[in-house]
Amino acid sequence: MIRFTKDNSQFQLDTKTSTYNMQVRDGFLLHLYWGARLEGGDHSYFFREQGRAAFSPRMENCGGFILDDVPLEYPCWGRGDLRTPAIEIENPDGSNIVDLRYESHAVSAGKPRIPGLPAVYVENDSECETLVVTLRDKYSNVCVDLYYCVMEDYDILTRYACVRNEGSENVIIRRAMSASFDFDHIRFDVISNYGTHCRERQIERHALQHGRYTMSSRRGASSHVHNPFLILTSPTADETSGDAYATVLVYSGSFAAEAAAGQFDSARAMIGLNPEEFSWTLASGESFYTPEAIQTYSATGLTQMSQNFHRLFRTRLCRGKFRDARRPVLLNSWEACYFSFDEERLKKIGTCSAELGIELLVIDDGWFGKRDTDNCSLGDWVVDKRKLPNGIEGIYNHLKELGIGLGIWFEPEMISPDSDLYRAHPDWCLHIADRPRSEGRNQLILDLSRGEVCDYLYDSIAAVIGTGMIDYVKWDFNRNMTEVGSEPLGKEKQREVTHRYYLGLYSLLERLITDFPNVLFESCSGGGGRFDAGLLYYMPQVWTSDNSDAIERLRIQHGTSLVYPMSAMSAHVSASPNHQTGHVTPFDTRFTVAFTGSFGYELDPTQLCDEDKQRVIHTGNLFKEYGERIAKGNYYRLRDPHEETCGAWCTVSEDQSLCIAGYVLTHVRMYGNNERIALRGLKPDALYKEKFTGITYRGDQLMNFGLHAPTTLEYQSILWILEEQK
Ligand code: DGJ
Repeated sequence: MIRFTKDNSQFQLDTKTSTYNMQVRDGFLLHLYWGARLEGGDHSYFFREQGRAAFSPRMENCGGFILDDVPLEYPCWGRGDLRTPAIEIENPDGSNIVDLRYESHAVSAGKPRIPGLPAVYVENDSECETLVVTLRDKYSNVCVDLYYCVMEDYDILTRYACVRNEGSENVIIRRAMSASFDFDHIRFDVISNYGTHCRERQIERHALQHGRYTMSSRRGASSHVHNPFLILTSPTADETSGDAYATVLVYSGSFAAEAAAGQFDSARAMIGLNPEEFSWTLASGESFYTPEAIQTYSATGLTQMSQNFHRLFRTRLCRGKFRDARRPVLLNSWEACYFSFDEERLKKIGTCSAELGIELLVIDDGWFGKRDTDNCSLGDWVVDKRKLPNGIEGIYNHLKELGIGLGIWFEPEMISPDSDLYRAHPDWCLHIADRPRSEGRNQLILDLSRGEVCDYLYDSIAAVIGTGMIDYVKWDFNRNMTEVGSEPLGKEKQREVTHRYYLGLYSLLERLITDFPNVLFESCSGGGGRFDAGLLYYMPQVWTSDNSDAIERLRIQHGTSLVYPMSAMSAHVSASPNHQTGHVTPFDTRFTVAFTGSFGYELDPTQLCDEDKQRVIHTGNLFKEYGERIAKGNYYRLRDPHEETCGAWCTVSEDQSLCIAGYVLTHVRMYGNNERIALRGLKPDALYKEKFTGITYRGDQLMNFGLHAPTTLEYQSILWILEEQK
């Protein structure tokens, strides 16, 4: 609900359990409150006017306040606030100043679309109310519309800004963040993800300290290194208690998220496009939209925060027919064969997969051009007849007879210097004239800010998937950006290239998913190098990591679950010893870890022993039986594999009648330690029967005492499936 009280110029934005307040004072849009839900009324006294000048200047005509000492909604650079700004504008005279004051506001039902950018959507206008507050700099006539979309039932507030140039000359946007958050204290911990390829989204937590703490990417991708979100919690907050304030950016390129503690012990946090990597020339009459930032508040710790994001992303960010459907049990050829396959080998794998109940075979890298290794052919999306003499049709017909689907791998955004495409269009990649072009994995990146490049990609992909033979596409992206230049844009706009690249990518994806609604798209960037809310808008699942080791995946999935739902995490059972780490793990452990995600296999089924083949049949059946309810359930982190010698979690169906819980022992300590796992989210007085043992427990027993867990064998695991007895 959105309320505006004229008498005291206050805005109150209520979600189910939270309230966000702002107030206009002397033309400035001040931030008053973000926290547990409040009744309406006058909250003016929340603003504490202390007039602490220190060395900060006092502005004309604004009561007693010192701008550097007040909580602001969208702080500007160039006047009295000397903290990090949300916006910086270079004016036609070269000065760097903008002074935005309240001009008007409007409230409407529903949620507008952000032109060209992914965003949370609603299915019905009654799901959201939108407030737009317009601010203006009366000298330059630069205006900013601040959008606040309140999804009350989801406990979500989304925000973005539209910068409009109503002046007569060009201005340059040097920085335009999506959202900024001021707090009047610094008693916070900051929680973030960090990592690298094959070790994405580890969790780091530390106290907020004076100075600026930034998590960011200048890599032209949201990246393996940090993830575009920011979580601030009260210092003692844990899974079940304490305040959590969180924001996630719906964007896949370079970003910055910052939390800073200032001189008067107040805090400011913000998230948006990375200003180090960006500027934008805005001609008279033009507008620029920032990506959307999604925020949620939980008064009961991290689980509720995560579940708020999970529910929203699952149901109002992901789209298409696969959003609510159980995903197919698939087998991916990458760790089964890498580049060495041909039609015969794929057919054998397909036949064996079908016998084991697998529903879809994905041909990963290596089916096109002359690609026997990773040094050529990206861009030449034409079947390699040496390997597949009967084209895709040959393998498709075979699988069709077996009754299973076909998926295929692309890395559309890349170009190999050794490719026909590069020989024809050497200028189509991101590059800077007369400078060397750095290769990553022997490849360059196509310039998706160019329409003709996106058109070429659309045509090449459509030629393959438009035959009706393809059910699934894995969309890979295997390097970060360097030499980010695009000649057609001219020298003034070179700092726009990365953002224009993403506008190009998003519009290409929009065309493809609109024209091919029956294809399930999975995004991938060397695993999780672009696991972000931006791409989830187009592709409902992501290959979580190139590290398919169950033990490492425990940590990766745990960290990913802070923000992203399990249904978005592709998780496969791979071979043992694991190809990345050499860990030898039992099949059941690999299954237990993969089961809660979008499930499949990453191995050669023809090489499995008979027992493991039976296990594939059995586990695939479990996923078919429970996959849909798990995907829609609420996820609880029960043990932290980063901190403890085990990992444990459970998913509880929306109606609380099914609970699937997993436990993996990651490090054995002699004679164990009486480990037991207390579950969460159940009905206390309901009876739950465990599927494999037949034992019945009451919900309160499971939640207060828990279940005994194995403690004696390293990498041992247990999966509990508990169904309510009615
Ligand atoms: C990186 C991906 O993450 C892998 O799963 C695989 O598709 C390779 N690329 C293929 O080159």
